[in-house]
Amino acid sequence: MKLPAFVTDLTLPPLEYQCKLRQWSQEMRTSSPIIWDEDSANWIVFRYEDVVRVQSDYATFSSEGTVPGGNGSSIVEMDPPRHKQMRSLITLAFSARTVVEMTPQIEEIVDTLLESLCARDEIDWMSDFANPLPVIVIARMLGLPHEEWPTYKRWTDAIINMTSESEVANLGLREHFARAIDERYRNPGGTDILSRLIAAEVDGKGLEYEDVMGFCFTLLIAGNITTTNVLGNAMLCFDEHPEELTRLQRHPELLPTAVEEILRYMGPFRAGPNGLIEGRIAQTDLRLYDHIVRKGDHVQVNRLSANFDERHFHEPERFDCGRTPNRHQSFGQGIHFCIGAPLARLEIKLALGKLLSKFQHIHILHKEPLRQTPSLLIFGPQRVPLSLQPA
Ligand code: HEM
Repeated sequence: MKLPAFVTDLTLPPLEYQCKLRQWSQEMRTSSPIIWDEDSANWIVFRYEDVVRVQSDYATFSSEGTVPGGNGSSIVEMDPPRHKQMRSLITLAFSARTVVEMTPQIEEIVDTLLESLCARDEIDWMSDFANPLPVIVIARMLGLPHEEWPTYKRWTDAIINMTSESEVANLGLREHFARAIDERYRNPGGTDILSRLIAAEVDGKGLEYEDVMGFCFTLLIAGNITTTNVLGNAMLCFDEHPEELTRLQRHPELLPTAVEEILRYMGPFRAGPNGLIEGRIAQTDLRLYDHIVRKGDHVQVNRLSANFDERHFHEPERFDCGRTPNRHQSFGQGIHFCIGAPLARLEIKLALGKLLSKFQHIHILHKEPLRQTPSLLIFGPQRVPLSLQPA
């Protein structure tokens, strides 16, 4: 079948897109829990239990060869045993403890960015805050000169959206990473994540130069577009549910559950044909509902649909900052579960917590309709004009 036209319609206002998406995926969960998208040649599954199964059963649903144009060097396109080896090495460098240790650094970046918003009648939440924060954080973690964040952001967007600049972007990033990596080979022993990656060993084996390079790409790209768009989507959630913003302002202790609810309710990926982050390849013929999935077929999970599955969530259509339990699928499931989840959670929590305590009135200005960010992979707002009044 063909996907409905709205799925790739970037001109729809973001909240309208989300409404249509929720409605469509609800219909699919009920009547067609798996469909064949003839344009992208992908199966798509919609129910929570199937989304979990496709991601967890790596023997049946492989990640190898899923990244369009990929050369196998990224952890997202690896299966065990190579995936396990790589993941163990990166976990050594990128543990939850390393992330907690980064709290003061991230706080400092958040404070500086928020400070620059004071005394202005109108700001753009995206270009003034949500774009710079994650890219500055990840650039610092990778030992790149963070003042160059606008370039890294532009290059990331070019690579993700496969624009005409993507080749230049790839070469440019490679050059910047090579400089940072070479310096650490010359001066080992540092405590930053790149030094730890280079030093990490499992069973006496460390990472090859190209593996380190591959990680730098994955971390820089995965580490900024997603978090940026979740920060933007947080504002869309509050725009749609101002009463929940007021609730959160009165009860800041709800912040951790509010962050999870934003991730569930409005994750940063589109529902479209984007094999990059949501795809697997069937390793055998199998039956799913009334369909036979053949060995070699691409199977995609629709995480947004899983996050609204009424079989799993109580009143899924309700945006509830106090929701618990909330085992959403926005960070994935199984062996590829997002390695950056602790970092992303920390960044979003610090950003929203400090925003809410610094500004009493946070008001989205609707002088003109909000627009979606121009990407067929990522979902978020392009600009969010805000008026802020200090507390
Ligand atoms: C809110 C922000 C984020 C979201 C929603 C998100 C989402 C995801 C998802 C859904 C996956 C699983 C992909 C799959 O199953 O094929 C994933 C994997 C991954 N993410 Fe994130 N991510 C976020 C932030 C980050 C950050 C900040 C970093 C790093 C700095 C990061 C690094 C990675 C890496 C390296 C993987 C691959 C893990 C593996 O294959 O074992 N992510 N992410």
